Amino acid sequence: MDRRQFLGNSLAAASGAFLSDRGFAGVTSPNSIPGTVPSGEIAHARFPEGFLWGMATASYQVEGAWNLDGKGESIWDRFAHTVGKVKGGATGDIACDQYHRYKEDIAILQRLNQKSYRFSISWPRIQPAGTGAVNQKGLDHYSRMVDTVLESGIRPFCTLYHWDLPQALEDRGGWPNRDLAGYFADYAGILAQHLGDRITVWAPFNMPWSFTYLGYGVGVFPPGRSRYTDFLKAAHTVNLAQGEAFRAIKAASSHATVGSAYGMAPAYPKTNSDADRAAADRYHAMNNVYFLETAIHGRYPKAFVGETPYQTMGFRPGDDKVMQVPLDWIGFHYYTRRIVSDTSASTSAKGGSFGTEIEDTAGGRDPYTRFSSVMPTEGPLTDAGLEKWPRGIYDLVMRISREYNHPVIEITESGCSYLDTPYAEDQEHVPDTRRIDFFREELAELARAITDGARVRAFHAWSLLDNFEWADGYSQRYGLTYVDFRNQKRTIKDSGLWYGRVATANRLDV
Ligand code: FCB
Repeated sequence: MDRRQFLGNSLAAASGAFLSDRGFAGVTSPNSIPGTVPSGEIAHARFPEGFLWGMATASYQVEGAWNLDGKGESIWDRFAHTVGKVKGGATGDIACDQYHRYKEDIAILQRLNQKSYRFSISWPRIQPAGTGAVNQKGLDHYSRMVDTVLESGIRPFCTLYHWDLPQALEDRGGWPNRDLAGYFADYAGILAQHLGDRITVWAPFNMPWSFTYLGYGVGVFPPGRSRYTDFLKAAHTVNLAQGEAFRAIKAASSHATVGSAYGMAPAYPKTNSDADRAAADRYHAMNNVYFLETAIHGRYPKAFVGETPYQTMGFRPGDDKVMQVPLDWIGFHYYTRRIVSDTSASTSAKGGSFGTEIEDTAGGRDPYTRFSSVMPTEGPLTDAGLEKWPRGIYDLVMRISREYNHPVIEITESGCSYLDTPYAEDQEHVPDTRRIDFFREELAELARAITDGARVRAFHAWSLLDNFEWADGYSQRYGLTYVDFRNQKRTIKDSGLWYGRVATANRLDV
């Protein structure tokens, strides 16, 4: 089952009137599209001077050059080269060819007055076998790219791992093998040693819950394994790896700051019952802060019904100390929200639960968490089928601010897929007004959170470019720049031009 099939399930589950009496319909506009932010709020929204406007990409999604200059095979190379895994048989072999075109792409960022570029480094480009020998050509590539970013007046934000594990490490057991924590720390140290004179902003993992759960728990992402207990083990290794990488980066670079790039969704209980409220808290613990609580407090959050299954996870005495690191700032993404209910009492084979987007087929069916999470369809849907719900970013930012003592926050990703293409008569123009609306409303809600005290210093739109959207291949377009994959021509969409004006003015009515 792929992302879209998940979605199909969730839409079926979410259809009907089941949300209408729930009392969390949010802000409703005069024309009553649920969730719409009033235009007055948009007109008055202001961002602080020095706010870091940025855009994000990920190595496998944009680079191409999958086997050039000594790069090793990654699990995404292997997965995409396996028939039936990716929609349309698409691969990231060429993707946006950013490996060769990074200067052109950074020039777009500069033209749009961007202040931060969040990119990721491909581990198998640096260590083709995942351990040992360093591939100098890989390091040189990123070194040149970072120089270009800095020369353009843009802050480089480096994610160390955006899902492209060296295949050689999967062959040694993948993330459930706790040795990977040490290998990852070695890799982190290499990067900080060679690039730490210029990069000061590091995030070890992109969406750790997603790649461990989807890769090892349900098998719709590489390596395609599906045992919940392997997910628990993989997640524990990643928690150890996050702590080890933090220390390795700091040891190699005195300028380094280390944060995160977690995937998060605000969770609203389906009903006001104690059981559903507790289930929503378990969702928050498992899906939002499972890698944050461990870093900040050295303990697992209460994600489970009953005791934390330490033994199954492979937890050893002293691991709490390894996991605990004082992150310098907290980064997370926002795309959409979830409605969560308790499934403890359910006896049906499916546990009454449906996953959504890249989420849980097994949600609520595992004996550990026992909740069901569904993406509602009250607000309008993007072309990827995700509900647009601007208010969600406000709720999420405020909750993390409250729970973690008002940390510095970076929004590491947010965006929407709409399939608008260049006008036939005017190839230089992509009128993607729905994307402008999406960002305008969401950013108004982010500005409100800042006004209400949240210390948000950066926002990264996903994405600089249309790109390889994982198991969906090229069937989704999240870019603020249109890419014609036949000839790699880039065309800045109207949303990109608008976002560039926002970055200049620190306001939304531009
Ligand atoms: C996030 C991923 C990113 C991209 C967007 C649409 O979950 O981090 O790589 O696929 O979704």
